[in-house]
Amino acid sequence: MFHNRKVNLNSSDIMILCPECGNILKLQECICQCGFKITKSSGIFNLHPYPEPVLMQPDIQYISYSPFALYYDDNRKIDSKLYASAAATIQPLTVQNSIVLDLGAGTGIIGLNLAKLNIPVITGDISMSMLEICRNRMENENIENIILMKINALHLPFPDQSLDGIVVRALLAHIRNWKRVIKEIRRVLSLRGRLFVIHESSSVTGKDYSSEVWTKYTELIEKQGKTICEKLGASTREALEFIESEDGIIEYSHEPASFNTTTSLDFILKEIQYRSHPSMRLIDKQTHNSAVQELKRLLKKEYGEAYCDLKVCRIVEQHVSSITFPFRS
Ligand SMILES: C[S@@+](CC[C@H](N)C(=O)[O-])C[C@H]1O[C@@H](n2cnc3c(N)ncnc32)[C@H](O)[C@@H]1O
Ligand SMILES: [Zn+2]
Repeated sequence: MFHNRKVNLNSSDIMILCPECGNILKLQECICQCGFKITKSSGIFNLHPYPEPVLMQPDIQYISYSPFALYYDDNRKIDSKLYASAAATIQPLTVQNSIVLDLGAGTGIIGLNLAKLNIPVITGDISMSMLEICRNRMENENIENIILMKINALHLPFPDQSLDGIVVRALLAHIRNWKRVIKEIRRVLSLRGRLFVIHESSSVTGKDYSSEVWTKYTELIEKQGKTICEKLGASTREALEFIESEDGIIEYSHEPASFNTTTSLDFILKEIQYRSHPSMRLIDKQTHNSAVQELKRLLKKEYGEAYCDLKVCRIVEQHVSSITFPFRS
């Protein structure tokens, strides 16, 4: 089932749902009969032309990564072998010549690797800034068979049963109504289609600076009389349980692949600073900023000026589950 032939991906071969009226259209710059205009700017089709939510609103539905986009790949470069391996696991299970949607693709760490294996890919994300980084990587690495789309996973702009492959990694934890995302995935997957869920579990070798820093940050917030809202979306376990309750069949849970990875305190601090993490919701700017300043002071006191260079070494196990939804009500 390996794909050796390069598939030319033509956007007008892709059918989409008009985000306004639900009409089925070809993906190209055009105006739907309802007046909705499909636009493409800097190579990205915009099928979700609405503002991204401001972080930390109590009713926030999802976490866009735009404020963090520039830093997102810092750490992913170190882990690049992880993503190439996930793509290699998925490739033989995809339907030949059909398109795979990398949903919540971010900077494209999975989608780009699938495309390198000659699988035509749609990278779909709600964050324009993340998609721009994905586009830059495509250009730099000369990867052609990708279509970039700004979309909302809660309202997928694809007709029923129109896709043969969808992959998600690190998405469902960032969306409050994650069950709806799974229902949308089920709706748009064909009967022969597969959903691939990638997730990692890790153990730390040596001192776990990372959890120490997160704990300290939480304590500093609580010291100011505030609490951190822990969770927005689902863990992979919860998601897989729900998928099964929605008639999804977990065909394979592939043998986890094991990797040694490293992250630095510098990256963890950036993650905290830019408030991209779901656990950082509902904290006002002032409380957050003073906790970050204090955190840096404490780290400097404890570990010296070079505290940013401290490394956290992990053994990461990567899990890929492939799922079908063969039954329809
Ligand atoms: C942790 S990142 C994961 C990115 C990529 N899948 C990876 O594994 O590196 C989460 C991504 O989900 C996107 N996202 C969050 N809510 C979304 C939504 N409702 N629809 C589409 N993408 C969404 C964010 O913008 C972000 O790029
Ligand atoms: Zn329309």
